Amino acid sequence: MAPPVFAIVASRESLADAMTRTAAEVERALDDLMPMPDGAEARLVEAMRYATLGGGKRMRAFLVMQGAALFNVDRRCAARVAASIEMMHAYSLVHDDLPAMDDDDLRRGKPSTHKAFDEATAILAGDALQARAFEVLAEPDTHSNPEARCELVLALGLASGARGMAGGQMIDMVAPSLAAAGNPMGAPEITRLQALKTGRLIQYSAEAGAMLGRAPSAQRHLLAAYGRDIGAAFQIADDLLDAEASTGDLGKTAGKDAAAGKATMVAVLGLERARIQADRLAEQAASHLDSFAEAGSSDEARQAAETLRALATYVVRRRS
Ligand code: IPE
Ligand code: IPE
Ligand code: MG
Ligand code: MG
Ligand code: MG
Repeated sequence: MAPPVFAIVASRESLADAMTRTAAEVERALDDLMPMPDGAEARLVEAMRYATLGGGKRMRAFLVMQGAALFNVDRRCAARVAASIEMMHAYSLVHDDLPAMDDDDLRRGKPSTHKAFDEATAILAGDALQARAFEVLAEPDTHSNPEARCELVLALGLASGARGMAGGQMIDMVAPSLAAAGNPMGAPEITRLQALKTGRLIQYSAEAGAMLGRAPSAQRHLLAAYGRDIGAAFQIADDLLDAEASTGDLGKTAGKDAAAGKATMVAVLGLERARIQADRLAEQAASHLDSFAEAGSSDEARQAAETLRALATYVVRRRS
């Protein structure tokens, strides 16, 4: 049986250091990949850069970089894929904050993109970030093998479209009116909602290193299972933070889910059971990586596996 996740956590310090180092690397890649153009469209790129640079935990980017380290992938290639997923994620946040969706004025401790610019610019910035995320994957610098690039493009499309993030956001938007009509979602429906709106992109991030490394499908499936569980834990933790943390700590408005009648695990299970569920998922996530941590892998790969296992605990213990 796998050791409990809380016993195998590498020191908090080393995970935090690794995340900070990766965030700086991905920040540089994002900066390089979104140069300012001349002309009236400069405002669009300014908004894309505003939404993407200088904030966020970069957890998805970190998953890509650590997953890539499991298979000794060139760091510059991995950093491009990490930047690409952060563009896609930033687009999802820009649109999530729009008045027509969650109507949130604060994101990453500063005004949301539609507040800093205007709604039309925020919509376009989201659109263009999404397109840029795919372009970056398709560009030859991302991988020498076009099949690998195509695989990444396909996987990101599946994770972000109607069967992924956007589909989950649709369910999230209709859930409050279903509840008002007397059909509130139960835990199984909310699990599916969260798997789509949040889980798919996190699962893609966990699998991307295996795609870059042309890893055997058995190893890719283990990373997919890890990503699925860590993604589910991540969204329950987000719901708990919305209910329990302060706006100052979060850098986004706290307490909005209950006020908007959102379908969350906290709403159906209560705080305590939602936390138990998140912890259980984090432990399960870590257990999928047992075989990566065993002898036989390179030192770098073993270290990356340990870091990913520690990340599962971070996901449910984070304060923002
Ligand atoms: C927030 O994601 C949106 C969810 C899917 C819950 P993060 O908590 O990763 O946001 P940043 O990137 O750190 O700002
Ligand atoms: C958003 O979930 C998930 C996305 C796909 C952007 P939330 O609406 O709970 O995210 P926050 O709390 O605004 O970051
Ligand atoms: Mg939302
Ligand atoms: Mg929101
Ligand atoms: Mg939330």
